[in-house]
Amino acid sequence: MIRANENYSKLQASYLFSDIAKRVNEYQKNHPDEKVIRLGIGDVTMALAPAVIKGFHEGVDEMANDASFRGYGPEQGYAFLRELIADNDFKTRGADIDPDEIFVSDGAKCDSANFQELFAKDVKVAIPDPVYPVYLDTNVMAGRTGRFEDGRYQGVVYMDCLKENGFLPALPKEDADLIYLCFPNNPTGTTATKEQLKTWVDYAREKKALILFDAAYESFIRDETLPRTIYEIRGAKEVAVEFRSFSKTAGFTGTRCGFTVVPKECMIYDANGGKISLHAMWNRRHTTKFNGVSYPVQKAAAAVYSTEGQAQIKEQIDYYLNNAALIRNTVESLGFEYYGGDNSPYIWIDGDGRDSWAFFDMLLNKASLVCTPGAGFGKCGTDYIRISAFNSLENVTEAMDRLKTAV
Ligand code: MLT
Repeated sequence: MIRANENYSKLQASYLFSDIAKRVNEYQKNHPDEKVIRLGIGDVTMALAPAVIKGFHEGVDEMANDASFRGYGPEQGYAFLRELIADNDFKTRGADIDPDEIFVSDGAKCDSANFQELFAKDVKVAIPDPVYPVYLDTNVMAGRTGRFEDGRYQGVVYMDCLKENGFLPALPKEDADLIYLCFPNNPTGTTATKEQLKTWVDYAREKKALILFDAAYESFIRDETLPRTIYEIRGAKEVAVEFRSFSKTAGFTGTRCGFTVVPKECMIYDANGGKISLHAMWNRRHTTKFNGVSYPVQKAAAAVYSTEGQAQIKEQIDYYLNNAALIRNTVESLGFEYYGGDNSPYIWIDGDGRDSWAFFDMLLNKASLVCTPGAGFGKCGTDYIRISAFNSLENVTEAMDRLKTAV
């Protein structure tokens, strides 16, 4: 008899964004003439930048010729891309990351979901609440949690991120082995300073814990005093893995490319406290279960680092940040408390007593406007909604006009 992994039965019926898509499709079916404006899932709407498209085309053209054709590439990514990443994203920030420590992949979602399989089933997992649901769901699937009761899984160390603590998780009272952090944060849009990240790095070094740091939104940081990578913090290379994505940085949500940094200094431990190289383990996992990102996509990603590519993606991010400013100004004028949206594409809005799913339904039904209900990111999100800045300025302007009449 083929038995199921019954941990799946502990999960909520469907993944947050699938659930939202189902509700929106149903609404659209019943209101075929309404123009729905989607500020829910953080999906980019602008075309790939010209420099990126040029790199992509070059890659495709090379595949059309026996002499330049490429078959299987290195699972970890081509050296040309890993070198550009190390030089541009890390060395410029004073972070000494070697190209060998970079693993190119099809995106930060998969890597942040898969990474937990390197750890023992009984490690204590600390997860912020609210946060991107993939961290929690994948640990549930792996059997690291108990049942779901009262909006929470037993056995997880939840780190409440509330208005009162500036949405910054405090060090857990109970010792944690595996700590998820995400800055700029999805969904609250808040950022962490170097001092705040240092507290976490020091904690992880003291406890022999590991930080999984999701920096998928780092390119939205405009405040130069804020860290863009956790490796700007001394000692982080011993205790932190970083996930990065070209999705929001360069519009690759449909193209798929990201990378994970696993420093060679990073150690985890066997039952007797013996050191094990995390880099060697992830390399083993990656080469066994992944066959590399396609060559044209890696060429497109490499073009992000060209002079034109850098200027063009900055312009795209500035465009989305301008949308975010419009959203912030509108919700402020309506008297809502809000957070994020300055160094992040997400604006986290206090519903002023409204339940987040009720707020979501109201906006969908009264304004044909899609947001993300905060409850989907955790119990601490039940009084909030998240509005994303990823759309055209015209649509965001229209969405804000509709918001004004709906609330
Ligand atoms: C979000 O809306 O939270 C993100 O787009 C989801 C993702 O990147 O997978």
